[in-house]
Amino acid sequence: MDLKDHIRAIPDFPKPGILFYDISTLLRHADAWQVAMGRMARAVRPHHPDLVAGIESRGFLMAAPLALKLGCGFVMLRKPGKLPGGTIGLDYALEYGSDRIEIQADAVQKGQRVVVVDDLLATGGTMAAAIRLLQNIGAEVPAAATLIELSFLRGRERIGVPVESLVSYDT
Ligand code: PRP
Ligand code: MG
Repeated sequence: MDLKDHIRAIPDFPKPGILFYDISTLLRHADAWQVAMGRMARAVRPHHPDLVAGIESRGFLMAAPLALKLGCGFVMLRKPGKLPGGTIGLDYALEYGSDRIEIQADAVQKGQRVVVVDDLLATGGTMAAAIRLLQNIGAEVPAAATLIELSFLRGRERIGVPVESLVSYDT
């Protein structure tokens, strides 16, 4: 199955000039979602994660089912102010402005292997920040995984660990 057949490209969303890759069509197609998660599990399993970390919000849609398939725990990397208890955050720069992600301070034990999962790797800023935050709290991050990679943005070069992507767009 070509997963690209199930990903819809929508021009000028959310802003003029941006081509948005919409995974809604893949998620609502039972076989396509199943195949995507099977392939992601096959790519990630050799990295032997103890935990899978998902990046809010679309990353959760990949990371939680992946964790179930791999028999791993699942942890959330969330937008600011969403997690209860003690949290640790990291601010990171965007093309315009900045953003922040947070994790519960006790989410990971030192040395646990955590694979970070998102739906899309674009500039790589979000994924790089997620990995840095996990490393800051003592995790070992053997790999990152994403459904879609926009390879022309060269985000992969900002990620210091292997990136497993299922489909790649080069324009
Ligand atoms: C999108 C996408 C990735 C990130 C990729 O998330 O889901 O998380 O951007 O961009 P980057 O590689 O340039 O950092 P978005 O911020 O749109 O939020 P959402 O997942 O909550 O929809
Ligand atoms: Mg996202």
